[in-house]
Amino acid sequence: MKVAVTGASGLTGSLVVRKLQERGHTPLAVVRSQDKADELCASYANLDVALADVTGPDARASLETALGGADALIICTSAKPKLDFWSLPGVIFGKMMGNKDAKPRFSFPAGAAPRDVDYEGTRVQIAAAKAAGVSHVVLLSSMAGTLPEHFLNVSMDKIVLWKRRAEMELIASGLEYTVIHPGGLLPHYGQKEPAPGGQRALVVGVDDALMERDAAGRVIPREDVAALCVLALDTPEARGRSFDVVSSPPGEGAAFSGDMAALLSSLSGENCDYSKPANLEELLG
Ligand SMILES: NC(=O)c1ccc[n+]([C@@H]2O[C@H](COP(=O)([O-])OP(=O)(O)OC[C@H]3O[C@@H](n4cnc5c(N)ncnc54)[C@H](OP(=O)(O)O)[C@@H]3O)[C@@H](O)[C@H]2O)c1
Repeated sequence: MKVAVTGASGLTGSLVVRKLQERGHTPLAVVRSQDKADELCASYANLDVALADVTGPDARASLETALGGADALIICTSAKPKLDFWSLPGVIFGKMMGNKDAKPRFSFPAGAAPRDVDYEGTRVQIAAAKAAGVSHVVLLSSMAGTLPEHFLNVSMDKIVLWKRRAEMELIASGLEYTVIHPGGLLPHYGQKEPAPGGQRALVVGVDDALMERDAAGRVIPREDVAALCVLALDTPEARGRSFDVVSSPPGEGAAFSGDMAALLSSLSGENCDYSKPANLEELLG
């Protein structure tokens, strides 16, 4: 299959490109600058690349052109939060005083907030995919879409709520879809140790129930997430599905076999329920 990957320069998107090549697909890496295109081409042999900024004025036209002839689209774009370093002393002080919930603050550049990238930028990708005749869209999103009070929503401009709103548009679009909500991606920001895929047991769920697990069981290597994005393309059971996924700590349970249909069978057909949170529109204003 010819598979377009947006956000192909990102940490997970670039792994998706690699997994596509490994499985014999032809990836088309969609990135927003020539510099990123050059970087990717230096790492991947014979890579097709297209340029599109999903928030730019010509986003629809450039995406529609790029997606022409693609069988599938894997969306890995995301707004990129910027840590407010001045919030760190308060976090350290809070933790010293026993406030385990003390969290840093984040911000986004103007025009690159979650509403711009994760909602409008995903909507334009969905519209372009439909117009270009793409048959299947895999949307990499996040857990916490049912939890307005979660740190990601409170401290990052409702990022997962905006992602969820875009997921709803994908589902309503009539395109074949797979929506994947991973838990915390490994390696974590700033973490030095690699987090190889294919070594952990994966666990799927819906509606953020997996958030109840211990912190070590609410994470997942990016490489495993990338593998699922690619496996979804040729797993019929992954179509029309929206689910959460995390991993168990290394050594706990059997490593994921690569059989996505078997993994999803533990859900007995259940999907995330988009009536939650009931006041999503109100929350997004
Ligand atoms: N971090 C976590 O723990 C976590 C947990 C669950 C889910 N997720 C979600 O998983 C997904 C992958 O995460 P990640 O950390 O691998 O992502 P990432 O490295 O931050 O990659 C984001 C990608 O989006 C691209 N992008 C941003 N704005 C764009 C625009 N206007 N036009 C075109 N491309 C644009 C970036 O391009 P540039 O390279 O040019 O900046 C980059 O390729 C994201 O949706 C994220 O929210 C993350």
